[in-house]
Amino acid sequence: MRHGISTVLLEKHTRQHVLSRVRAGVLESGTVHELRDAGVAQRLDRERIEHGGVCLGDDNTDFRIDFRELSGRPVTVYGQTEITRDLYEALDRDCADIRHECPVVEIGNVETTQPHLLYRTRTGACRLDADFIVACDGYHGVGRRFVPTSHRTEFERRLPYGWLGILAEAPPVHHELVYSRSSRGFALASMRSQQLSRYYIQVPRQHDPKDWSDQAFWKEFRRRLPGRFADRLQTGPSIEKSIANLRAFVCGTLRFGRLLLCGDAGHIVPPTGAKGLNLAVSDVHYASNALVQYFHHGDLQGLDSYSRKALDRVWLAMRFSWWMTRMLHLDPQSDGFESQLRSAEFLHLRRAPGAQGMFAENYAGLPY
Ligand code: DHB
Repeated sequence: MRHGISTVLLEKHTRQHVLSRVRAGVLESGTVHELRDAGVAQRLDRERIEHGGVCLGDDNTDFRIDFRELSGRPVTVYGQTEITRDLYEALDRDCADIRHECPVVEIGNVETTQPHLLYRTRTGACRLDADFIVACDGYHGVGRRFVPTSHRTEFERRLPYGWLGILAEAPPVHHELVYSRSSRGFALASMRSQQLSRYYIQVPRQHDPKDWSDQAFWKEFRRRLPGRFADRLQTGPSIEKSIANLRAFVCGTLRFGRLLLCGDAGHIVPPTGAKGLNLAVSDVHYASNALVQYFHHGDLQGLDSYSRKALDRVWLAMRFSWWMTRMLHLDPQSDGFESQLRSAEFLHLRRAPGAQGMFAENYAGLPY
């Protein structure tokens, strides 16, 4: 219970499953502030790794963009799974009502003041009545479906490639992130700690992680890193290996009556730039303020403007993630003209301080 508002959390999976999933790991300073405000940042503040910039490179060269100098804000490396663990612990301390293995099957009456949910449990079907329902159930969740299609414009683009990611027991190749635009395809060197590396390579959409041995991954990853990093790469056993296909999706309405959509339930940006989790946090910032405003003052203004405010920020992040993705990936469907333009985009970023300033502002996170 926060701000005197009680909540029930319904989760389709087990807690163990939720905590076993490896997700993104770069937090904007706004996200860190939100977590501190919510009182769940003690471990984050002890364990986080602050990054003042990133490296971008290609086959021949690499350069650094300095966030501290250009935007005044660093970013923080701390795994999303660790945030989830911290949130669970805070909810446990609060004796919160969390119901696992309870898939929601129906959301109803959202246009009235008494919406309800129907969900399944091991022993049968249950009903829950609420004042508001907040769908935080991801792109594949059911929440969005209960915004009627007549009120739901959807914008979607799929990209013809995915990211094969591994979490490996090996020291990171560099103390900051390295984004590489190699002629063999994109590669990204990230990390979770000084002993744990998170690395990605672009692969065709239909690839299966089972087709990629650790050895094949390391060979390809090394070939895609700018030379001075490739020479330094240390490999190690992989703990996790998975493929995420790249897509851009925005649901044009994030609120219908008393149903609110937050995070991937309402939008997905391509992962380049690590905006997904940060957008979920800004959605929750707008939505929770709106709910507090309503319950404490009977004021509907925050709820009425939730969708517009959240979507403005989503589209700004989409613009950046889409641009960064297109610039850094090899696109089998694009012609020579387009490829040359992308090379020029990269050259411009390397040479123009103004372009680096734009990059730093967006990467470090736009204001709420
Ligand atoms: C990570 C993911 C991203 O999408 C990104 O742009 C940077 C880092 C990560 O998982 O560490």
